[in-house]
Parts: sequence; structure tokens; C-alpha cells
Amino acid sequence: MQIGIIGGSGFDDPNLFENPIERDITTPFGKPSDVLLEGSIKGVSCVLLARHGRKHQYQPSDVNYRANIWALKSLGCTHILATTATGSLVEQYRPGDLVVLDDFIDRTWGRQCTFYDRTEGGPRGVCHLPMRPAFCEKARQALLSAARGRGHVCHATGTAVTKQGPRFSSRAESLMHRQWGGHVVNMTTVPEVALAKEAGLSYAAVALVTDYDCWRENEQSVSVSEVLEMFARNIKKAIDVIVDAVQILAADSDYSYLDCHKDLVTSAIMLKN
Ligand code: ADE
Repeated sequence: MQIGIIGGSGFDDPNLFENPIERDITTPFGKPSDVLLEGSIKGVSCVLLARHGRKHQYQPSDVNYRANIWALKSLGCTHILATTATGSLVEQYRPGDLVVLDDFIDRTWGRQCTFYDRTEGGPRGVCHLPMRPAFCEKARQALLSAARGRGHVCHATGTAVTKQGPRFSSRAESLMHRQWGGHVVNMTTVPEVALAKEAGLSYAAVALVTDYDCWRENEQSVSVSEVLEMFARNIKKAIDVIVDAVQILAADSDYSYLDCHKDLVTSAIMLKN
């Protein structure tokens, strides 16, 4: 097994990643956000990718999600663990808490959200992939055990409303996202989760709550400085969780769930030629 990690900032600690080698990859869908770092974490093979590029050069709607997932898969990744900064849409998910996402609502538009679009070098056919469950339950449980093991406040489930950005929500939108049943709001889970599933990979994401968006009474809107400050203050938690989850996944000898992910994709493809 090999585990891809999407997130980036914070994983640049030289003691964390053993024997890192940079891989500059081109995919049929273009270039990923940056070079990928291949190495290991406590003996388990991992590949690290900064979703927005190492200089944070791509805004959420400009990230080449397809190239990112394809590149990780082409280096042999069987799993992807992701981190994501999120605003909270419910009182009990507080800034500083972690959430292991279990569902999403797609509020993005115009993003390349399938590999099955007849791109030269890509897969053939039309793919209608079921999205329940949206995330890999094995990988989710690994993140949750890791978070609980570290003593962090971590919510076992959460629906992410992924919005297009780059702007934050208006108050009316934020109230609407709450009514829809969203627990957190971000800008990157879609199409990442769907593409990982199309690629037949085990994918789960740990969300770091950085703010209360803008739905609460008598409160200002979320700001970039608030998000960045909370993210910087708490990212170590998310990194520790991923590091421990990598060990948990590697210690499990039952890989049959990986075959289920692949079989699901095979059964979802129509008109293969
Ligand atoms: N990422 C972090 N906080 C956010 C918010 N309030 N809305 C969208 N994306 C976010």
C-alpha cells in the first residue's frame, strides 16, 4: 500500500517525511499543483502533495484536481488522506475542532469533475458513480481513531458544503447551507472526493474548523486573517492525526475494501468504447 496525502502546509517538517524524493509528473489531464514528494512516514510509503501548490499559487477553483488525483494514483497510491480548512455551520463544531467528513453538498460549478470525458490517455466510457457513501469508511475510521487517540476533539461525521469561492458566503447563503444540513463549509472537497472515487482509491478527509462562517447573530463575517490564524494554530493536530492514521491503515491486513472501491468503478462504467 502507498498513501497519498493532500494538504501540504505543515508537512514540510524535515523530520516527518523520511528519504523524500521530488517527483515532477505530467498526466493526461495536465500538471498537478506542484511536484509530489515521495518518501515514508515511520516506515510506511507515502506521497505528499500541496493541493494549492507549495506557494499556495492556485485558488480553489483553479486547482487541477484531476491531475492531482491521477498523479497520486500513477505513483502507486492506494489511499488518499486529505486535510481541509472549513468554516462551521453548527454551534457545536467549534473553531479548533476536527471533523472526519462523511458527506458533501456540491455548490461548485465549472470544475472538471470526471476523468471520463474522452481525454486522450484517460479512461474510456461514461461513468455514473454512486456517491453513497461518499468517503471510504475504513480510512474515515482510521482518521477518527487517530484523532481520538491523540485526545483531540473530533466529530465522527460531518457534511461539507463545498462552495465555488473564492469569496466567502453571504449571510443568506450561510443560513441556507445550515438549513440544507451542512455542518461545515469549504471550497475544495468537491471534486476531489469524487475523482478519488472514480480512480478507485480509498479517500477520507479530516476537516479543521477555523471559523463560524457568518450565520451567527451579532457576529462579523469570517475573514482571511481569522482562517489563517486558526489554521496555523491547529494544523499540527491535523498532521498528527494523518501521521497516526497512516500507521493504523498500514497495520490492517485486510485490504478487501480496496477491491470493493475498484469493483464499484467497473460496475459504474457504461459504453466502454
Ligand atoms: N474555509 C475556511 N473557512 C471557510 C468558510 N467560512 N467558507 C468557505 N471556506 C472556508
